[in-house]
Amino acid sequence: MVASGFKYNGTKKVFFAKYKDGKWENGSLTDSLNFEISALASALQYGQSVFEGLKAYRAKDGRTLMFRVDKNYERLLRSSARLLIPEIPKELFYEGILETVKANRELVPSYESKGALYVRPSIIGTESVLGIRSANEFLFFVVASPVGNYFNDGFKPIKLYATDFDRAAPNGLGSYKAGANYAGSLYAKKEAVEMGYDDCLYLDPKTHTKLDECGASNVIVITHDNKFMTPQSDSILPSITNNSLQILAKDYLKMEIIRKEIHLDELDGLKEFGAVGTAAVISPVGLIHHHGRDIRFKSHDILEKLYGLLTGIQFGDINENYGWVIEV
Ligand SMILES: Cc1ncc(COP(=O)(O)O)c(C=O)c1O
Repeated sequence: MVASGFKYNGTKKVFFAKYKDGKWENGSLTDSLNFEISALASALQYGQSVFEGLKAYRAKDGRTLMFRVDKNYERLLRSSARLLIPEIPKELFYEGILETVKANRELVPSYESKGALYVRPSIIGTESVLGIRSANEFLFFVVASPVGNYFNDGFKPIKLYATDFDRAAPNGLGSYKAGANYAGSLYAKKEAVEMGYDDCLYLDPKTHTKLDECGASNVIVITHDNKFMTPQSDSILPSITNNSLQILAKDYLKMEIIRKEIHLDELDGLKEFGAVGTAAVISPVGLIHHHGRDIRFKSHDILEKLYGLLTGIQFGDINENYGWVIEV
């Protein structure tokens, strides 16, 4: 199985579980993505929806592996609490993920293709609401579909457009994985792509002078003296990939990790720039355009080393002692 690009490439089985009368019901697998929903469902009217994104990888010996699933569960709970969505029990979350991956196992791309089965757990408010309030009925579902690269094939640098649009307000939803954040990012991404860039880069919403993140990835920078830097900001998603890379950079490459506000003005003096996330993995950035100025990054040696370590662990080529990888 080979999947090209990051898009919906079909699925075999989908897991659904309902929340009603104050409790989560048992879930089950079905053959179809489609379900009936009220036109007044809180998810449709007011965006009461949260989700996660993780991958299942095919190891060289054929095993199906997953990476840091516990972190996706923690983040889903954090997002749910912010959007008044009831806490999903850990057992139900894991059942949904593992049953879906098992039922779609034949869709996991081959080891050689370096693709993966993308797994999308979501929780949405389904009760009809008219006044603005939280629903009392919810649906948890897990969809899995094979994917290839998010940006370019191979380790080819991408181009980012530093947009004047904001993705999230300082005390808003930026650090939560809420569907609403992505609706708000569609326009800016379309504009950047139409101008020939791969994605937009969001700046801090308060001053527009510091780095935040891209539409679906965090950013990291490597300094000329090989320090790992990543923005400190309240309006970016806490990326599991970024967190993992910080641990690998420190443990394997003995790099110093610096989390701080990173000003656009500092970028000229930095060596490497990467967009990182489950979908983007590590995509080296070759150019950032901001207000008529091009900032270029020619090297991506350290990013390539980190890419080798991260994907080596995810695909089971490198043994790890962190307890990050599970076999499904
Ligand atoms: C806005 C945003 N930032 C960052 C990330 C990267 O997070 P992770 O590494 O957990 O996939 C994602 C993707 O999940 C995202 O949607």
